[in-house]
Amino acid sequence: MSKTTFSVTAIGIAVISLLWIGFFQPYLTSSARTLVPVPLPPIVDEPIKHVLAFENTTLIDRNNRQVILNMDSVMVFVNKLRNLPADYAPLDLIIPSVPFTFSGDEPRKYMRTQAALALEQLFAEAKNLSLDLFATSGYRSYDKQKSIFNNSANLKGEEEANKTSARPGQSEHQTGLAMDVTSSKVGYNLVESFGTTTEGIWLRENAHAFGFIIRYPKGKEYITGYSYEPWHLRYVGLEVAEYIYTHSLTLEEYFQQKHGY
Ligand code: DAL
Ligand code: ZN
Repeated sequence: MSKTTFSVTAIGIAVISLLWIGFFQPYLTSSARTLVPVPLPPIVDEPIKHVLAFENTTLIDRNNRQVILNMDSVMVFVNKLRNLPADYAPLDLIIPSVPFTFSGDEPRKYMRTQAALALEQLFAEAKNLSLDLFATSGYRSYDKQKSIFNNSANLKGEEEANKTSARPGQSEHQTGLAMDVTSSKVGYNLVESFGTTTEGIWLRENAHAFGFIIRYPKGKEYITGYSYEPWHLRYVGLEVAEYIYTHSLTLEEYFQQKHGY
């Protein structure tokens, strides 16, 4: 090896070593041997202007399905085209302090913290007005939704089941931002007639003041893909709920108007 070749090789090795150390430095312990995990980013719990641009909120998986990326946003947009990852579960679930139709600590009592606190305010106002309102179904895991959908599909076929029950990964209940509510007047059931009770009417006209929308309204079934559900509250935050209520929109129409969905 000539002197020049030796020098060029030595300089090359030195440069590569420096680059390597520089690149991995933040991930190395003091012993410089073990990779340490990078801290997870904080949960995004902000209005839409602070989250991913709408066009970047999904990616296409190898089955050509849209998989949601901004699962932790309060503006997460889930429907029959937009799927939550199967392993997604919110990290800040709590039980709202509201009356439930059942007792005990069950997963379906839980909601994400921001939504749970807003639900408490909604129920406090309902109580002031002597309304007969109960929460019955909040958070559901992917697997729970799978078993609910499969049971329903076994009874009435997938297409019919999917008018009232979301496929796994397509339910807002997996986000921890939804709560089904009901009343003794309809036997604590989730039925359309809840929409004509004092409670159902009050919710339709006032849920937005607490940051909630009636996610599957009457007459918009062809847009949402689901039957009318006067009981299904979805937390979106005050600003968006107010806008959606004032303009009589579904979440699909809101995203269409604001982001060309
Ligand atoms: N019933 C609603 C659509 C759900 O299953 O999430
Ligand atoms: Zn629901």
